[in-house]
Amino acid sequence: MRGALAGKRVLVTAGGTREPLDAVRYIGNRSSGRMGVALAAEARRRGAVVTLIASNLAVPPPEDVEVVEAPTAADVESEASARSDADVVLMAAAVSDYRPAETEAAKRPKDEQTWEIALEPTTDVLKHIGEHRVNGQVLVGFAAETGDDGLDRARKKLATKMVDFIVYNDVSSADVGFDAEENEVVIVSAESERRVNKAPKDEIAAAILDEVENRL
Ligand code: CTP
Repeated sequence: MRGALAGKRVLVTAGGTREPLDAVRYIGNRSSGRMGVALAAEARRRGAVVTLIASNLAVPPPEDVEVVEAPTAADVESEASARSDADVVLMAAAVSDYRPAETEAAKRPKDEQTWEIALEPTTDVLKHIGEHRVNGQVLVGFAAETGDDGLDRARKKLATKMVDFIVYNDVSSADVGFDAEENEVVIVSAESERRVNKAPKDEIAAAILDEVENRL
């Protein structure tokens, strides 16, 4: 297939991880996977060979991309790390920062006691990939933030995660970002910041991939 990304391997993570508490319960988040799916579809349209690491998607994956199921943060870690030499890595998934320290194999029966849950940190997959970056690779992270200092915190993640771009979105309003059809982002790099006004997620994906292409 011809296109600006022909011959490039693109790895995308999408969705939200679920960290099991017992046989049926989990700790999760509201990510639908729409942003990552839009990125995978757009990268494919531009000719890339695309692998989508899918964490509990609420929407169907695009056609013609390899889909690897990764329900938990540990699965994202192993599946993304195995493919971390891709030319472009787009980490759109909401990967849990914590998981239950213990998981019960059976369904926990109800009792009258308080259920106290200890959480342990998960591996920061993007940071790990950033620390072991391959020459010429373009790495993109996402920062879903709330509050006035959100953009500042997103800027700091450029350095802490050692990535080329952080896509900042404010998830405090219900109509953009998490589990929404549209998004409104700032694409932050060390040299520039590009604001993309509220638009369907496929348009946001195109803007992000324009920036990636310029960097490749
Ligand atoms: N990410 C990851 N592995 C994790 C957690 C997050 O690779 N265990 C990636 C996400 O896919 C996303 C970016 O890192 O690209 C989000 O950064 P993160 O530090 O998790 O954001 P917050 O959870 O908002 O961080 P903090 O609470 O520290 O602000």
